[in-house]
Amino acid sequence: MLYVKNLYKSYQVGKVKYPVLKGIDFHVAQGEFVAVMGPSGSGKTTLLNCISCYIPFDGGSIMVGGVKLAGQDEETLAKIRNTKLGFVFQDFMLLDGLSIRENILVPRIVQGEVGRDAEQLAERLADMFGIGHIMDKYPADVSGGEKQRAAVARSLINSPMVILADEPTGNLDSKSSRIVIETFIEAKEKMEATIFMVTHDSFAASFCDRVILLKDGTIYRQVEKEGSQREFQDKLLDAIREMSA
Ligand SMILES: Nc1ncnc2c1ncn2[C@@H]1O[C@H](COP(=O)(O)OP(=O)(O)O)[C@@H](O)[C@H]1O
Ligand SMILES: [Mg+2]
Repeated sequence: MLYVKNLYKSYQVGKVKYPVLKGIDFHVAQGEFVAVMGPSGSGKTTLLNCISCYIPFDGGSIMVGGVKLAGQDEETLAKIRNTKLGFVFQDFMLLDGLSIRENILVPRIVQGEVGRDAEQLAERLADMFGIGHIMDKYPADVSGGEKQRAAVARSLINSPMVILADEPTGNLDSKSSRIVIETFIEAKEKMEATIFMVTHDSFAASFCDRVILLKDGTIYRQVEKEGSQREFQDKLLDAIREMSA
């Protein structure tokens, strides 16, 4: 579903070029829930921004569902982002002037058509994620965890090929974090959603199928889920300790 091959990216600051991603290779299969972890500054957000083509990269290739995003014109890219990718951000990015229901429907509103099918899917997602009772409220009147569950519902409204999430639990307490991670698991199990999540939270990552550890712009190691969630979290913590040693 998502192929990243030999990806290179550097930032030019004045006359100096700072390499950030130095040959990244990985694949995420349909229906997989994969996390990327790594110290601050290791290039996680840069990687996500390259995948969504928000920033150009220097070398390598990225394919999403058989489509190369790089090189498409802006209009095509905007369309692909809206219809083929779902986004979840650390700070929710809901529109304050819209109800939770309208926020979930935004990717459809952008396309100019909100049919009965979209409304039904919004209701189904809201029920699945336990936010059916706040659909007519506004973001200011709901909790952070509820906002993020609405954002996950929004990311799914177009049945995207991949959901890209950057620190989705970064602004949440541990209880809300867990509920938000459970929405991803529901999406994966009930809708075969493919989720690619950046996080520095080993608890959140321990619910994934696989964790990619980034260090200094290269993949240090990939850790496959095995055993219980707690065992996997311990295994992850060991790998992170070894990585920072
Ligand atoms: N627009 C930019 N211009 C220059 N350097 C940047 C820019 N964005 C990020 N960086 C640098 O690239 C490195 C990786 O950043 P980032 O991808 O945000 O890391 P992470 O998300 O893992 O914390 C950092 O050293 C950061 O300072
Ligand atoms: Mg980041």
